[in-house]
Amino acid sequence: MSGRWPLFDLRLTSPRLELRYADDSDLLELAEVAGEGIHPPDVMPFMTPWSDAPPAERARSVLQWNWRGRAVLRPESWSLPFAVVSDGRVVGIQDVVASDFEFVREVSTGSWLGQRHQGQGIGTEMRAAVLALAFEGLRSRFALSGAFTDNPASIAVSRRCGYEPDGIARLVRRGRPETQLRLRLSRERWAEFATTPVQIHGLTDEVKAMLGAADPS
Ligand SMILES: CC(C)(COP(=O)(O)OP(=O)(O)OC[C@H]1O[C@@H](n2cnc3c(N)ncnc32)[C@H](O)[C@@H]1OP(=O)(O)O)[C@@H](O)C(=O)NCCC(=O)NCCS
Repeated sequence: MSGRWPLFDLRLTSPRLELRYADDSDLLELAEVAGEGIHPPDVMPFMTPWSDAPPAERARSVLQWNWRGRAVLRPESWSLPFAVVSDGRVVGIQDVVASDFEFVREVSTGSWLGQRHQGQGIGTEMRAAVLALAFEGLRSRFALSGAFTDNPASIAVSRRCGYEPDGIARLVRRGRPETQLRLRLSRERWAEFATTPVQIHGLTDEVKAMLGAADPS
């Protein structure tokens, strides 16, 4: 597929992890991981509570969501779902999304790990990997993240990477108004905080053009 869809060759490697643009077999593994559970039932880290669905439906929604993202990708609006591989197994997903990247030079990230893979430093390392892609590979100016106030793990990952407070958003979650912390990382702060060595593979001129990130001529 990579001849026609070169994103399938996009890959990031860090000391413990491989992050690869998810193909269908990765998505199937991700679906299984999601089916096994991402968080306890009494918490909800996501704005859209897709993970409240029963296991089979939750697993299928991982396929549908990511197929959709692939289908609507264009330079003005894109998402890159990376399957996160640790010890040869897919353990979660790290997404990078952008709108009008050519002009705005900002990416946002989102992620989840299977519940049994959390709390081992994987979340911090996978965020570091996509930040290297954003700032070093794509010449981003900023990276954004958001987390509900009751998600200490996500907030801790952002703080460790150097993100700074960027206001709040009031959002409805499970039918109730909640506060989401918005976080912003500048290119300068990233350079100051980045310590994880990351290799970027497959970021060709063709891939950059698909993302509105072509090098200036
Ligand atoms: C958020 C998530 C990706 C983080 O990945 P992780 O591998 O669990 O995080 P790490 O092990 O790298 O830990 C990062 C930091 O969070 C802290 N942390 C982890 N779990 C925590 C918890 N339950 N309470 C408080 N701090 C916690 C760690 O101590 C670490 O802090 P430190 O760097 O100061 O030591 C993962 O927990 C997850 O998938 N959660 C469910 C889905 C989710 O919340 N997605 C994000 C939506 S915004």
